[in-house]
Amino acid sequence: MTNEMVNGRKPVTTAKLRSMKTKGEPIVFVTAYDFPSARLAELAGVDAILVGDSLGNVVQGRETTLSVTLDHMIYHTEMVSRAVSMPFVVADMPFATYHGSVDTTLNNVARLMQEGGAKAVKLEGGLEIAPAVQAAVRAGVPVMGHLGLTPQSVHVIGGYKVQGKDQSAAVKLLEDALRLEEAGAFAIVLELVTDELAALVTEKLSIPTIGIGAGPRCDGQVLVLHDILQFDANPIPKKMVKTYANIGQAIRDAIHGYVEDVKSRTFPTAEHTFQMSGEVAQQLYGGGRKEEGKVR
Ligand code: KIV
Repeated sequence: MTNEMVNGRKPVTTAKLRSMKTKGEPIVFVTAYDFPSARLAELAGVDAILVGDSLGNVVQGRETTLSVTLDHMIYHTEMVSRAVSMPFVVADMPFATYHGSVDTTLNNVARLMQEGGAKAVKLEGGLEIAPAVQAAVRAGVPVMGHLGLTPQSVHVIGGYKVQGKDQSAAVKLLEDALRLEEAGAFAIVLELVTDELAALVTEKLSIPTIGIGAGPRCDGQVLVLHDILQFDANPIPKKMVKTYANIGQAIRDAIHGYVEDVKSRTFPTAEHTFQMSGEVAQQLYGGGRKEEGKVR
């Protein structure tokens, strides 16, 4: 990364994200998984990009994120990191890559940073992953936490449902958030938690909270790109998502137009066709150029 300004903006850092919280300036994250979408997100003015393991759902077409591997994350993170210079790029540590020894965790984190080019990593969980967070931060890696609905634990949680609704779950989530802050996390994603709990956690922490389905009182928001664009053959409406385009329908219409044109021989036309010189054509065909439409 250079320190050059992009469209009049300096590259975003963890210090910048924290100062945005202090100033009350909303922080915008969006997910991206490849070069063109990351580039477009940068041009659209996002502050940060999350290369989420949600790619398991929206790119790989899986039911959960559990099948996403470290190699998958590196592959996608590298494309995103290469595409942008201003937004802060955070990459998800995938399922079961940070629960073993500190050495293994640090090796995995290092691969995501060195091979993928991530500026930071995100880990799901609270108290139980605080030692991993602390070790990564000590090694010079900015770490983002993720509390509430943590999709990598979907089989323990028992489904994609709102978290922290009762008193003890809410207190536990707040304690986890404080513990992650103490371990050195620079920000925390709050996924599918009530507005009241998200507001309390946001008030108690000095690091930013980034909400998804956590109401308007977080310091910032994150949404999955494919959700806001309806980039799916069969987009399912979600309460926590606002949609801004119907790219799925636009892609379907465009490909259908292409199919129709080829079937009806209205594509390609002369406009899309290359010609050789008349002289060469004559040599090639002896008697001259073949009738248009008969050359294959
Ligand atoms: O993987 C992901 O995209 C995420 C967001 C939903 C926060 O973790």
